[in-house]
Amino acid sequence: MNRPVPRHVAIVMDGNGRWARKRLMPRNFGHRKGVETLRSIVKASAARRIDYLTVFAFSTENWSRPQEEVGALMSLFVETLEKEVPALMENKVRIRFIGDRSALGRKVIEKMRMSETQTEKNKGLTLTIALNYSGRDDLVRAFGRIVEDTVPAQHIDETLISSYLDTAGIPDPDLIIRTGGEHRISNFFLWQSAYSEFYTSSRYWPDFNEKEFDKALNAYGKRERRFGGLG
Ligand code: IPE
Ligand code: IPE
Ligand code: MG
Repeated sequence: MNRPVPRHVAIVMDGNGRWARKRLMPRNFGHRKGVETLRSIVKASAARRIDYLTVFAFSTENWSRPQEEVGALMSLFVETLEKEVPALMENKVRIRFIGDRSALGRKVIEKMRMSETQTEKNKGLTLTIALNYSGRDDLVRAFGRIVEDTVPAQHIDETLISSYLDTAGIPDPDLIIRTGGEHRISNFFLWQSAYSEFYTSSRYWPDFNEKEFDKALNAYGKRERRFGGLG
C-alpha cells in the first residue's frame, strides 16, 4: 500500500525521567538512554525519506527543574553533539536549532554553531532540535523583531509572522508525536501545529523505537486531513 509519508514529523520526547525511576535509577540515566532512541529515530527518518524531523529537547519551562538535572542535560547536549556529528554527516543529515540561545551556556552555544556549520551542506534530512524553546516564547521573540523592523501593520499577515519565527523556511509539521502518554502540547509548536495530526504513544521515550515510529507513521497514513474543507 502506498502511504503518504509526512514531510515534517515533530516529536515531544517525553518520559525519560519516569523510565529511569521505574528502574530505580536517577532521571539522568533516562536522558542518556533517550539519546540512543533519538539516534535510531533520526536514522529511520532519513531511511523513510522524511524531509524534516524536529525534536523537543528542552523547553523554556524545563529550567525550573533541579539544577543538577539541568546541568546534566546541558552536558549531555554538548557531549552528544560532539559525538554524533560524524554519523550525521554519513547520513547526510543537516542539523538546525530553534529556541532562545541567549540563555544557554557558552559551551553549548559553541557546539550548536559548530554542528550547524559542519552539516549545513548536507542535502538529506533536516534535523531541528528545539533547545530552550517554547511556542509562546518563539512568538514573543518574533513580535519583538517585527516591531524592531518597524513593519507596517498592513504588511502583517500569516506568511510574514511565519517568516519571523525560529522555524522560518521549515514547513509546518504534518505529524506531531508525543511519547510518555501525556495528551498535551506543553508549549511546543503553537503557531506551527494549526493543522498537524497528533499521535500519542504510551511508551516512554527510551522505550520508543523504529517499530513504534512506524506505527505512528501508519496511523498518520490513515488520517483524513481536511484543512477546514470538505476533503
Ligand atoms: C523528557 O523527559 C525530556 C526533557 C523534558 C528534557 P522528562 O524528563 O520530562 O521525563 P518525565 O516526563 O519526567 O518522565
Ligand atoms: C515537554 O515535556 C518538553 C520536552 C519534551 C522537552 P515536559 O515533561 O517538560 O512537559 P510536562 O511538564 O509534562 O507538560
Ligand atoms: Mg516529562
